[in-house]
Amino acid sequence: MKKGLIIVGLMIGLLVLVGAKYDYLLEMGDKTVKSAECNQCHKAIYEDWSKNFHAKAYSNDPFKKATKDYQEKACLPCHAAQEMAEEKALKLRPVHLEEGINCTTCHLRNNMIYGPYKLTAKHPSEQDASMIKSEFCAGCHMPTYQEWQASGSKRQCQECHMPRVEGKAVQGFPLSSLVPKRMIGQHIQIYEGLLTGAASLTGEIGTGSIRISLTNKASAHTMPTGKYGDYRVVLTTTVVDAEDKTVFSKQEIFSSQKGSGIPVQKTVVYEYPLTLAAGKQYTAKATLTYQVQGRPERAMATWSAPVGGGT
Ligand code: HEC
Ligand code: HEC
Ligand code: HEC
Ligand code: HEC
Ligand code: HEC
Repeated sequence: MKKGLIIVGLMIGLLVLVGAKYDYLLEMGDKTVKSAECNQCHKAIYEDWSKNFHAKAYSNDPFKKATKDYQEKACLPCHAAQEMAEEKALKLRPVHLEEGINCTTCHLRNNMIYGPYKLTAKHPSEQDASMIKSEFCAGCHMPTYQEWQASGSKRQCQECHMPRVEGKAVQGFPLSSLVPKRMIGQHIQIYEGLLTGAASLTGEIGTGSIRISLTNKASAHTMPTGKYGDYRVVLTTTVVDAEDKTVFSKQEIFSSQKGSGIPVQKTVVYEYPLTLAAGKQYTAKATLTYQVQGRPERAMATWSAPVGGGT
């Protein structure tokens, strides 16, 4: 019994000591640490974050251009914020601007690390229950947040954009062997499964026409959404003959910048007239792609069917 108490006492003492060693992580302003410091322990989360667009929010070319090489000062705070706040209260982090929206932006406030749980970490931490709610993203994503609210969706932003998987919050021996498995929100934003599940796309061949229907099935906001960036969802319908020669082609662009996105659960229908040579065989195809300025195009959905040229 006594021995047990001593061991527990020793362990608490060790935790406090070890904790104190990491108090520098809680510094703010000029002393705010780089995300590399968090990467000592949270390696998997760091890896996911560093590959995604929050990490490039300041350094990416479209932003650099749109702000005339960072001269438009009003644009900067949100793209490299010191800490989470309401839109008007966002402030620029004085250091490591190239890291954009980094670990400290979302987790560090009032010299404290906030997380969704109430864990005993290597560093002091407090629970912020809003971290798993859409409200947490609202300060920077207000227009999208408002669309989400109006949609009545029960799913929070994080459920689609940071889906939880079982795993450990820290990697590397010996620390990882001391923490249990728990549900970890992946620090990703846009990924293949999200894009391929977003829309439903179907076609119908009529007499002398082709009818394409497209539904914003799985976004809880307009598809595409956004106020600042140039996000596009592009519908391309083609008809090719047996020699693969294109005899019909038409494109519809849904653009966040033009405000021409498809509202939640809405279906848009296009009916195109077709004049095809009698007796010949053709193939009709509709593809939906995701296009963002300066990035590779990504597939969302396809539909195809044979078309006879009539008699
Ligand atoms: C401090 C401000 C800030 C916070 C907080 C924030 N975001 Fe963002 N988010 C941005 C900015 C700025 C971009 C644009 C990044 C870019 O592409 O340059 C962005 C981009 C995105 C994108 C699009 C990524 C892409 O591929 O272009 C998604 C999705 C996203 N955020 C979701 C979220 C979710 C979900 C949350 C809440 C958990 C959140 N964001 C919190 C500022 C923020
Ligand atoms: C755009 C905001 C944002 C950024 C940037 C961000 N996080 Fe998170 N983080 C969150 C949210 C939201 C959660 C809660 C996710 C959940 O539990 O479903 C979270 C959860 C966590 C957790 C607890 C485990 C979990 O998933 O619940 C750790 C640890 C963590 N983040 C570390 C980091 C580190 C390290 C970085 C930088 C490499 C980072 N985060 C960058 C928003 C962010
Ligand atoms: C020396 C290792 C170490 C470093 C460095 C470190 N952490 Fe942690 N952190 C931990 C451990 C251990 C936990 C608890 C993990 C568990 O129990 O699953 C944790 C937990 C967390 C949590 C979840 C807290 C909660 O109660 O929900 C967040 C958020 C977090 N860390 C963010 C950060 C950020 C941001 C940085 C960089 C500024 C950082 N950590 C640096 C070891 C570290
Ligand atoms: C039900 C799942 C779901 C929820 C909930 C959700 N999103 Fe999305 N989000 C998507 C899908 C799917 C896409 C990609 C297709 C598209 O453009 O709509 C996307 C794309 C985005 C983009 C990139 C621009 C774009 O439209 O491609 C941003 C930014 C974004 N979401 C922010 C948010 C924010 C902020 C919230 C919470 C207020 C949120 N999302 C809630 C599914 C979701
Ligand atoms: C309140 C936060 C906020 C402010 C202020 C802000 N942005 Fe953004 N910016 C975002 C978010 C969130 C996104 C991603 C989704 C969207 O477009 O809403 C984004 C995306 C972008 C993108 C697209 C990046 C990419 O990867 O393609 C550009 C360019 C951009 N912003 C330029 C600007 C300019 C120029 C200003 C000033 C006029 C500005 N932003 C001010 C939050 C902000």
